[in-house]
Parts: sequence; structure tokens; C-alpha cells
Amino acid sequence: RVVPVIAIDGPSASGKGTVAARVAATLGWNYLDSGALYRLTALAAQRAGVAWDDEPAVAAIAAGLDVVFAEGSIRLAGEEVEDAIRQEEISSGASQVAVLPSVRAALLFRQRAFCRAPGLVADGRDMASVVFTDAALKVFLTASVEARAERRYKQLMAKGIAARLQPLLLEMQQRDDRDRGRSVAPLQQDANASLLDTTDIPIDVAVARVLDWARAVV
Ligand code: C5P
Repeated sequence: RVVPVIAIDGPSASGKGTVAARVAATLGWNYLDSGALYRLTALAAQRAGVAWDDEPAVAAIAAGLDVVFAEGSIRLAGEEVEDAIRQEEISSGASQVAVLPSVRAALLFRQRAFCRAPGLVADGRDMASVVFTDAALKVFLTASVEARAERRYKQLMAKGIAARLQPLLLEMQQRDDRDRGRSVAPLQQDANASLLDTTDIPIDVAVARVLDWARAVV
């Protein structure tokens, strides 16, 4: 029996992580935050003194990541790194290691291993186009860059992480451009993906919309 997958892609802070996690919880399915794997790779490289553009070295680090995911917790070699990987510097590092084809290849198997019964909700940039091409439901979640920067700003403030809105918006735009412009697995709406723009709708409404679509196909 094929394990059903819901693939949710979109730019940074579009709400896809929150929506994906809540849809997974409602359905009782597994959840994959694929961006965390790129963030973990960037963090592990930084700690090993490896430059983010040193492709063979970064790919070796990606292949050897010792990581354990639990709800609200991510352990890298036994150390809790949930906060460390959400820092803006690591956001940028993640998008830099993400342009390297051998890094993406190294993380592919790890991502597919999350696909276990009764189902999987996966969020990222290439869930629909590369990792889970036969997903039962594909969603492209987006929002204006202003709305996304404001959300990220509020998230960081809530966690007690210092931030300023304007630099955040610029950094986010830079990261989106890098994600859209790269030659391997660029961020783009898959031909079969349903578009959901969350600029003017609350997150609850977005979750309900995805659940409606999900119930129609699985
Ligand atoms: O989703 P999140 O913002 O945590 O992802 C961090 C970075 O990892 C993205 O900016 C992107 O460059 C990269 N990424 C990717 N493919 C994915 C998920 C994330 O290239 N499926």
C-alpha cells in the first residue's frame, strides 16, 4: 500500500511550517520539516569550520548528520539545536548549502525515510517537484514579502531573539531570490500544486483549507 503524502512548498515564512505541522497533527500523520535538514547541515558545517561553498566537505557533513527529531526538539549529536538552527545567520547558510547538488542528493534519502504509515505531511521548497513527486496533494503556500517579514519578525521577538524588520525583509528577499534562481530544485509552484496565498488570511483558515483539500483526495 502506498503511504499518502501531502507536499507543502513555498518561500520562507509563508506559514508552510505551521500549516504543515498542524495538518499532520490533525490527521495523525508524520511530519517532515525538510528545511531543518538544510539548516542542520549549515550549522554542522559552521561548527566543523567548513565553508558553506565547499561542496565535497559540506556534502559529507550532510550525509553523516547525527540527528534526532522529536516534537519541538531537534538534537544534533545529542545537543538541542532547535534555537540555534533558527538564527538568521543559519537561515542564510542553509540557503547557501542548498544550492549544492551533492548536498541535496545526500539529503534525499533522509527525507524519503520520513514517509511512513499512516501518511506524511512534508514542507520545503522541492517536496512536490523532487522529493515526493507522486504526492496525493501538492500545495504552494505563499504570502507577500512584507507579510512574511512581519511574521518572521514576530516569531523571533516571541522567542526573545533580537531582530529588526527592514534588514529581515532584505535578507528574506535575498534568500528567496537564491532559492528561486538556483539551477537544482529551484523554488517554484509545481504544475499540479494548488496555490494558497496567506497574505490576508489567518493561519487557522489556511489549515482548514488544506485539510479540506486533503480530505478530498486521501
Ligand atoms: O524552510 P526553511 O526556511 O527552514 O529552509 C531553510 C533553507 O533551506 C531555504 O531557504 C532553502 O534554501 C533550503 N531548503 C531547500 N529545500 C527544501 C527546504 C529548504 O532548498 N526542501
